[in-house]
Order: sequence, then C-alpha cells, then structure tokens
Amino acid sequence: MKTDIKLLENGKRLDGRKYDELRPIKIEAGVLHRAEGSCYLEWGGNKVLAAVYGPREAVPRHTQNPLRAIVNARYNMAAFSVDDRKRPGPDRRSREISKVISEALENVIILENFPRASIDVNIEVIDAEAGTRCAGLTAAAVALVDAGIPMRDIPVSCAAGKIDGQVVIDLGKNEDNYGQADLPVAISPRTGEILLMQMDGHLTMDEFNQALDLAIKGCHIISDLQKKAIMEKYQKITEVK
Ligand code: CDP
Repeated sequence: MKTDIKLLENGKRLDGRKYDELRPIKIEAGVLHRAEGSCYLEWGGNKVLAAVYGPREAVPRHTQNPLRAIVNARYNMAAFSVDDRKRPGPDRRSREISKVISEALENVIILENFPRASIDVNIEVIDAEAGTRCAGLTAAAVALVDAGIPMRDIPVSCAAGKIDGQVVIDLGKNEDNYGQADLPVAISPRTGEILLMQMDGHLTMDEFNQALDLAIKGCHIISDLQKKAIMEKYQKITEVK
C-alpha cells in the first residue's frame, strides 16, 4: 500500500464521508430466474451478482462428504469490472477469496441436512471499486436465503481500515490503494461470531480494536438491509398473487 496521497481533508474523506459512514448500498433478492436463489447488490461503485444452485449431488463424486454438504463458493471478477482489463478466469486472488467465502458460509449453513450434496454459490463482480469480497459475501448470503438453504443466521460482511492515521469504515478505491490498512470482517450478526477476518497493512492493537468495532457496526447496518431486501421480494410475490 502506498501512503503518499492525502485521503483526509479537514476530517472528511475524499468522497465526503465521515469516518463511520458506509458507501450507499442497494440490495435486491431474487433477480435471476434460472438460479435457485439470487441477489444483486450495489455498494458504492461495486456491482455484484450472486446465484445459488443446490443442494445437489456433489460432482466429481470424490468431493462428496457422506456426513454433510460441501459449499463451493466461486468468486469471479469480470474482465471489464476494473480500469485495466482483468485477465479472464481464476487467479490466485479469486481462489483465495472463493476459499475464505466458502469457509465463512460453511459455518452458518446447516450442512448436516444434506449429506453428499454440494451447495454452489457463484459470485460475479461486474463493477469493482474496493471491498468486493465483503459485497460478494453479503450478496451470497441473501441469495442463500432466497434459495431456501437452512442457515443458523444470515452472514454479513463489512471492512474497516486506516487512512492518513485515522481508522475508518468501508474503504473506497483510493483509500484501499493508498491507505495504511484494510480489515475485511464477516460475522453472524445474531451471535457475533466472526466468520471471516483478513488484514492487509499494519494496525496497532488499539487501532485494530477500533477497526473491528467499526466493521461490526457496519455489519449490523447492512444486516438490516439484507433482511429488508428479502422481505421486499416476498412482498412482491404476495402482491402479484
Ligand atoms: O475487492 P477487495 O477489497 O475485497 O479485494 P482487494 O484484493 O483488496 O482489491 C481491492 C480493489 O482493487 C478491488 O475491489 C478492485 O477495485 C481493485 N482490483 C483491480 O483493479 N484489479 C484487480 N485485478 C484486482 C483488484
């Protein structure tokens, strides 16, 4: 991370946000007809689609677990989602993000209900502006609910970080590129259990605690938006009938 760009002006961030203010978020459940469950999410300049298939027989068969389902989250960034065209297909970064999202989801889905099955979660980032793993996981959670997959809770994700020596919530693109630290977190909002935590850059113990508190605060705000999106979908269905 470079640190030579000024990211705070009179205590305000470059996009005018306060230290604890999220970028605007819009969530819509059930946007794809082919998938069992789906979600479209806009978060600042991020645009993400999530589609859930399954539970269905896991293939190849050697991947099956006789006692529980496996979760296959596949995070992909479209070639046109970033300024410099991204080379299509999986890379080290997308494999890492797919793995941490799969593991986060495995901790809330009631996997024992579906032995030998796989639950496939496709996450497509079509526009990227920092924080796409948080956006992807948050969208995937709504798509899983839309698919009727039993879960102990609806997981949710948000990041916090440090720019110009100040701990802030939800880094934007320049803040991510030129800031000092980024701490993406995912939680189960009901229990407070941490499902994902990664850190890029450096934070003191105090700053880390502040950043974690901010990220969790963000998670709770976004959790309400997830529930609203799910309720709106069922409201629409009731109206059509
Ligand atoms: O997106 P997230 O913050 O979860 O992951 P990151 O690896 O910290 O990437 C931060 C941002 O860098 C992404 O959201 C994209 O906007 C950008 N990026 C890019 O421009 N080209 C890439 N090949 C990968 C990321």
